[in-house]
Amino acid sequence: MKMLGIKVPKQDAEKVRKKLIELGLLDTNFKVKHEGEFVIFPVKEKIEGFEIVEETFERAKKRFHSYREVVEIPSELGHLLPSSFDIIGDIAIIELPEELIPYGENIGRAILRAHKHIKAVFAKGSKVLGEYRVRELIHLAGEKRTETIHRENGIRLKLDVAKVYFSPRLATERMRIFEKTKEGEIIFDMFAGIGPYSILLAKKAKIVFACDINPWAIKYLEENKKLNKVENVVPILGDVRKVAGQIKADRVIMNLPKFAHEFLKEAMISVKKGGVVHYYGFSHEDNLFDEHIEMIEMAAEELGKSVKILEKRKVRPYAPYQFNIAIDFAVF
Ligand SMILES: C[S@@+](CC[C@H](N)C(=O)[O-])C[C@H]1O[C@@H](n2cnc3c(N)ncnc32)[C@H](O)[C@@H]1O
Repeated sequence: MKMLGIKVPKQDAEKVRKKLIELGLLDTNFKVKHEGEFVIFPVKEKIEGFEIVEETFERAKKRFHSYREVVEIPSELGHLLPSSFDIIGDIAIIELPEELIPYGENIGRAILRAHKHIKAVFAKGSKVLGEYRVRELIHLAGEKRTETIHRENGIRLKLDVAKVYFSPRLATERMRIFEKTKEGEIIFDMFAGIGPYSILLAKKAKIVFACDINPWAIKYLEENKKLNKVENVVPILGDVRKVAGQIKADRVIMNLPKFAHEFLKEAMISVKKGGVVHYYGFSHEDNLFDEHIEMIEMAAEELGKSVKILEKRKVRPYAPYQFNIAIDFAVF
C-alpha cells in the first residue's frame, strides 16, 4: 500500500527525524527507507517545506515494554503475572505463583520476545537453600545454559546461576560499601561468592581476602580476577571459621544474611581495633534492628571488646514484611 513519505538528503536526516518525532508526525509503525543519497521517512500527514513522495514502507517490528503485553495465558490469570524478574547477564529468573507454572513455557517465550538481550529464561524452583545459598531452577525457554557474564558497577562477573549465589539486587549496596572504603585498606570478604564485593573493592583496597566454602564460587572468583585484571584479591576456599583471626582487616564484610549472627565472633577477631564490620541480616519489619544489635553487643562482650553502631539501614525487601538489613559497626 502506498503511503505518505518525505524525502530528505542523507545529511539532514537526523535533524529531520528529531523534528518529526517532536511534532508527533513520524509514523513509527513503519521502517525508514534509505535510497542512495536520500532518506525517506513515513509520515502521518503532509508537511510543508519538504518533498512529499508516495511510497511503500516495510512494517517495523513492534517494541514491547513488558512481556505481559505478549504472553499467552488465560486472561483470568493475567493479574498473577509478576511485573518484574531478575536479569543476570543474559539470563532471566522469574518467580511464578503455582497457578502460572503450567504456562511457564509461554511466559518464558514472551520474556524472550520482549527482551532481545535475554537468551534463557528460568523460574525459581525453590528458595535459596543450604550452605552454598543456591536455589533450584526450572528451565522455561531459550538456551538451556546457566553460565553467563553479568555487568555491574563497572565490573564483569562470570558465574553459573545454578551453581553459585548471586543477586543483582545488591548492586547499590555494594557501591555503598565501595564508597566507604578508603584507599589502601585491608578487606576481609568472609562470604565472597563469585566476588561482586571483592573485585569492586579491590580497586581501592591494598588487598582483599575473599573466602567462600563453595568451590564453584571460588572457581568463578579466580576467573573474575582475570576478567577484571585484578591482582590484589586472595581467594580462600573453605570454611571461614578456619581463617578467622589469622587476618587483621580494616573492613570485614559479612554478606550471609541468614546466618551472619553465627559468625559475629569470627568477624570481630578478624578486624583491627577501630575497624569496621558490615553485617547483614533478615528481619521482620516490626523489629528491624534491635535483635541483631543485641547479638552484636553480646558477641563483643564475650570477647571483652566493645562496638559502636555506625549505621543501620534496610537494603531491600526480602519477603512479605521481611527485609534484608545492614548494620555497620566499629569494633574496639
Ligand atoms: C549470600 S551469599 C553472598 C555471596 C556474595 N558476597 C555476593 O554478594 O554475591 C553467601 C556465600 O557464603 C558462602 N558460605 C556459606 N557458609 C560459609 C562458611 N562457613 N564459610 C565460607 N563461606 C560460606 C556461600 O557459599 C555463599 O557463596
